[in-house]
Amino acid sequence: MQKHKVIIDADPGIDDSLAILVALNSPELDVIGISIVEGNVPTSIGVQNALKVLREARRLDIPVFSGATVPLKHAYTSAQDTHGMDGLGDSNIPAVTEVRASTMDAQAGYADLLSHHSDVWFLALGPLTNVAQFIQQQPIKWQHISRLVVMGGAYKSHGNTSPVAEYNFWVDPDAADFVFKNSPIEIELVPLDVTRQILLTPNILQLMQYIDSPKTDFVNKIIQFYFQFHWDQEHVLGAVINDPLVIVYVLHPEIARHIHKYVAIATSGVALGQSIVDIADFWQKPANTKILQDIDAKQAMVYIVSGLLGCEADLIDSELSRIATGLERLS
Ligand code: BDR
Ligand code: CA
Repeated sequence: MQKHKVIIDADPGIDDSLAILVALNSPELDVIGISIVEGNVPTSIGVQNALKVLREARRLDIPVFSGATVPLKHAYTSAQDTHGMDGLGDSNIPAVTEVRASTMDAQAGYADLLSHHSDVWFLALGPLTNVAQFIQQQPIKWQHISRLVVMGGAYKSHGNTSPVAEYNFWVDPDAADFVFKNSPIEIELVPLDVTRQILLTPNILQLMQYIDSPKTDFVNKIIQFYFQFHWDQEHVLGAVINDPLVIVYVLHPEIARHIHKYVAIATSGVALGQSIVDIADFWQKPANTKILQDIDAKQAMVYIVSGLLGCEADLIDSELSRIATGLERLS
């Protein structure tokens, strides 16, 4: 099987960690490197969390590169209220001591990887600081990137950090603005409108435990804090897991409906970090973004659960069809 080479840029983070696990368990993907950006947790904690996920998947051979530690212009605000002080739901998973992160920083890591690989998919699961610096500093190397898929922003849906802004774009709006203005390839955007439908419910978690308890153990440890956060903040039973949808979408684009439009990012004022979609073509600019709008949430969850457990999607499909998943309220 021809594997697609991917670089994952992330701020792990509970849902980033789940996304990395799904990617590592996807036989169609070859994760050639993971870079870390400031976001849910400070970069040094994110690096350690990526190593913890790699240890869990027995893939400590994959290099982890430490990237930007602060946004381009704005002051940095973490999301440790959402992800725990350790970024993994205060799960106290022991540090990885047997392997260290690469001595190369993210930019040097990209240069190194892309001198050996081309046609690489870049999956951005955190604020876009590393991506902006990459496009800015290494435009020739960037030509080896054939897809840029970004979790961030919101179109019709409200924000999750301000009334209109999603966290990744809100944390570094200048980086997001730069990337949307300067990306040489169309951005594939996975916004809150679709990720909000990806709810990992207690029923689904229990089902995972019945199917494969050892493999569910790590997920169970990190997700409990997220469950509590969602209950306290939104009175939602379960946790919205945004980032794994990026992995599922790149492999199964048929589960989503999309539009192509011009998107701009607000870099100041009351709408800071908002992704503005020029739906009626007021600005007469060529589309720079493929925006996901609707997804088959149940099918996405089938792929996420089978990715987390490393088992056949058909098995999860039939099991999920038999139980009340808790997703019913969304349909
Ligand atoms: C995004 O922000 C982070 O909290 C999540 O990891 C996700 O990438 C959702 O707004
Ligand atoms: Ca993230």
